[in-house]
Amino acid sequence: MTRHILLTGGCGFIGSNFVRFVLRERPGYRVTNLDALTYSGNPENLADIEADSALRDRYRFVKGDIRDADLVQKLMGECNALVHMAAESHVDRSILDARPFVETNVLGTQTLLDGIRRLKHAGKLAGDFRGVHVSTDEVYGSLPLDRPELKFTEETPICGNSPYAASKAASDLLVQAYHHTFGLPLCITRCSNNFGPYQFPEKVIPLFVTNLIEGRKVPLYGDGLNVRDWLHVEDHCEAVLTVLEKGVPGEVYNIGGNNERNNKELTHSILKAMGKPPEMIQPVTDRLGHDRRYAIDPRKLETKLGWRPTRSAWPQALEATVRWYVENPQWWQRVKSGAYRQYYEQQYGRR
Ligand code: NAD
Ligand code: DAU
Repeated sequence: MTRHILLTGGCGFIGSNFVRFVLRERPGYRVTNLDALTYSGNPENLADIEADSALRDRYRFVKGDIRDADLVQKLMGECNALVHMAAESHVDRSILDARPFVETNVLGTQTLLDGIRRLKHAGKLAGDFRGVHVSTDEVYGSLPLDRPELKFTEETPICGNSPYAASKAASDLLVQAYHHTFGLPLCITRCSNNFGPYQFPEKVIPLFVTNLIEGRKVPLYGDGLNVRDWLHVEDHCEAVLTVLEKGVPGEVYNIGGNNERNNKELTHSILKAMGKPPEMIQPVTDRLGHDRRYAIDPRKLETKLGWRPTRSAWPQALEATVRWYVENPQWWQRVKSGAYRQYYEQQYGRR
């Protein structure tokens, strides 16, 4: 079966890695990337793919918003699969201003779903259509530090604590409602924290690595004991593709690497990989409502669909990621300076 995937948010961190992954691993597949190029959408992430004439028939970028119902319907009518990644994704920003999170994550997802529903109603949705809504472990809330045996399963009740998590939880519920009510063949994936190349340097790993290269300290929130479950972005991409191809519509699949680390441990590993002293840690005021611990139980995806993480082994995978930022200063310096915002117009003019 060949697939033409409508990918939303393909110029972001996970989306751009997903484009590379699919084009490499599925020679028969095509990808249409719909991205609004918000601050975290960086077309430079895929500049080499755009420039590769051998990929011209397999990859297309469309600048546009998932809240544009007509555009969504037109593009969805040309594809037979959906991978929905477009979102406002940063917790700290959602604490400063929740509105864009509701607008994109909730209203955007609803617009997208309604476009698919209308196509189906008009008999114009591909008969073999299926889709994946890419969500997060943050919709499950927070686990205590003193109960290490507890992990999030697909049955754990939804309890989004930050405005970001609440908006993602709302989008998950909409996807489930459109599956239940209109029979749209959609799955949901809920993944733990990703690391790897092309991550926007507001997230903890690229922020800390690039600060250290610049000789600046790294701001560690609170007591540094909050735990995250780290997964390499390519393992996430492979899991999403696995769910797209083999998942049962209507089902939720957790994705995680069984790789829990607290932020102090993570920070010391980064310092060690970069040969920097512990004095570079700057303890700062904690994030408001900071979730204490995330931990995913990925056994459903492993046993039912046969996925396993193969690229997330610690500390080698972290060290390789640190090296990528060290070796690609032109990428993150253009992001940190804001120069990447001019790239699109320079390449394509105003559209
Ligand atoms: P990101 O912020 O790097 O990328 C988001 C992309 O979506 C950007 O390219 C942006 O331009 C685009 N976008 C935003 N609003 C849009 C709109 N209205 N219309 C079209 N495009 C729009 O995010 P990421 O870290 O790559 O996360 C991708 C998805 O994966 C999100 O849905 C996020 O909730 C989920 N997720 C992320 C992680 C993680 O660790 N980063 C873990 C689990 C799940
Ligand atoms: O769990 C999946 C989620 O992981 C995704 O859904 C989100 O899109 C993604 O942003 C990420 O959320 P987190 O809030 O866990 O990621 P972040 O990199 O912002 O923070 C990771 C941990 O590091 C968290 O406990 C807060 C801490 N931190 C973060 C920053 C930015 C610091 O100590 N200092 C910092 O400067």
